[in-house]
Amino acid sequence: VSAVLAVLLGSGALWLYTSADVSTTGDRFSRELAIPPLAKPTVEADGTKVFDLTMQSGQKEFTAGKKTRTWGFNGDHLGPTLRAQRGDKVKVRIRNTLGEASTVHWHGMHLPAKMDGGPHQMVASGATWSPRWTVDQPAASLWYHPHPHGRTEKHVQRGLAGMFLLDDDASNRLALPREYGINDLPVMVQDVTFDGAELDFDRGFLRDTGFLGERTMVNGTLNPYRTVSDELVRLRLLNASTARIYDFGFSDDRSFTMVATDGGLLEKPLRQDRVKLSPGERAEIVVRMKPGERTELRSFPHGGYGSAWEKRLAGGDDSLSVLQLRAANTLRPSPALPSELATLEVPDGSDSVRERYFGLTTPGINGREMKMDRVDLTVTRGTAETWVVRNEHGTPHNFHVHDVQFRVLEVNGKEPPPQLRGAKDTVYVAPNTTVKLAMRFDGPADPNSPYMYHCHLLYHEDLGMMGQFVVVEKGQKAGTVGARDAHA
Ligand code: C2O
Ligand code: CU
Repeated sequence: VSAVLAVLLGSGALWLYTSADVSTTGDRFSRELAIPPLAKPTVEADGTKVFDLTMQSGQKEFTAGKKTRTWGFNGDHLGPTLRAQRGDKVKVRIRNTLGEASTVHWHGMHLPAKMDGGPHQMVASGATWSPRWTVDQPAASLWYHPHPHGRTEKHVQRGLAGMFLLDDDASNRLALPREYGINDLPVMVQDVTFDGAELDFDRGFLRDTGFLGERTMVNGTLNPYRTVSDELVRLRLLNASTARIYDFGFSDDRSFTMVATDGGLLEKPLRQDRVKLSPGERAEIVVRMKPGERTELRSFPHGGYGSAWEKRLAGGDDSLSVLQLRAANTLRPSPALPSELATLEVPDGSDSVRERYFGLTTPGINGREMKMDRVDLTVTRGTAETWVVRNEHGTPHNFHVHDVQFRVLEVNGKEPPPQLRGAKDTVYVAPNTTVKLAMRFDGPADPNSPYMYHCHLLYHEDLGMMGQFVVVEKGQKAGTVGARDAHA
């Protein structure tokens, strides 16, 4: 009833309704948002930054007095934030103590296929895997999560996820909020359902789309608020949910400045009042705060997108509460935002050497389900391609490509909306929608080690809505890729 009332009365009343709700339940916005610690690397003689990640099971008190069984990296739940600079040599030592095999994939990272952490780089229980690579891409908010074929949804929703932030010389010079945990906040949004103290993955499970939790949490904090002391606050939004799609905005409808997409900074800051993120996508936004005020990051129903599925995935008819920001009574002044941010390094389609078609059906792509020992396509190192991806039916999907960042050239034959005009590695593909993407495969070539492309609704991915590509030198053929048992 109150929700209906709030809608009837308009957004001003919505705010009142929300604040009334806070005082009556005493539950909403009752916990300070946790900020994942920044991992401290050790440095090898040649300058390589070495991070240690232990995959472990644990117990976390989401609610006081209730211990919930969870998984995490270096702790009970989620993982530390890794951070590196363009040009850095990095190595991550991953120790798996889960009691079952898993992997760790660097979502959004450009790196050799053998280091990618996809389903071919399984880390057996008790084993350690140490991928290494040189960071060679622009500043961006990336993330890491397991990728064991057939079980990714399960591993991620138990708590295995963390952020991987990249900086570069240009981004270090920009007047953007950059004090981690102070005015530059990681915001990993996930949805959960509890059955007593334990996480419940069954109650919210929909056969068509996968798990939809009953409530959201940010960085593993339920009912989160964060006190901020700067006029400008940067939020690095990550949809780390397994199926839910968020359309983020603020309770008072204030606009904000979007500064980055999945793969890094936009060319220019973009004024928005909503940003829509499907699973795996990121956006960096900068919000202006006034002394003493409060505002709430929410996810709104997807007006205008139509399908009943999307409505459900967006949280039904009501907006979902995500995070409250509380401004201190005195705020540190922030410098004005720069008017230019970065030069996009993604191709524009003009030098594409071929176009390929990907039809998203359930459960496969182009009618085929993922097979570990089948290479679906072979691309030549150094070339650009255009990929046309069509959602051929009524269930929402998205599309993620490993190793590359792409440019969205078109959505249904038209110029994409402004929020998609940056470097992307994951794109939402609404029912009966076609997206056209341009990407370049810079290598290195490895005919025997595939990268993945897939729907990032993790249940779909697990069902086999995934394919494999290898990058080869001109004239080279794809090799054999192992059918390593996904359940090793
Ligand atoms: Cu975020 Cu193939 O993954
Ligand atoms: Cu899908």
